[in-house]
Amino acid sequence: MIPVTAAFTRFCEVSQVPPNGKKAAKINGVWVLVCHSKDRYFAVSNICSHQVKPLINGRVRNCAITCPVHGAKFNLETGEALNLPATKPIDTYELRIVDDWIEVKV
Ligand code: FES
Repeated sequence: MIPVTAAFTRFCEVSQVPPNGKKAAKINGVWVLVCHSKDRYFAVSNICSHQVKPLINGRVRNCAITCPVHGAKFNLETGEALNLPATKPIDTYELRIVDDWIEVKV
């Protein structure tokens, strides 16, 4: 039996995520946050692993996002929690750019 693998889904046009900007949207019921930092795009969960709060209003710096609620910081590439109060990572997703569209695999 061939395993079913997730497909890339169009998230938004590249122009909708400006340098150091971010955009959140649901893909197949999953809240995804796309961020731009240091000339790269990242796709992560929009939900903080500490108390299930949205990360969309967090500050993005140096390929990390800081939760606006209690200040936990997450590595945008690995999802790793970099400081307390979060101890668990956030999910990360594959991202690619095709024809000026950002596509994410959830
Ligand atoms: S909800 Fe994000 S650090 Fe507490």
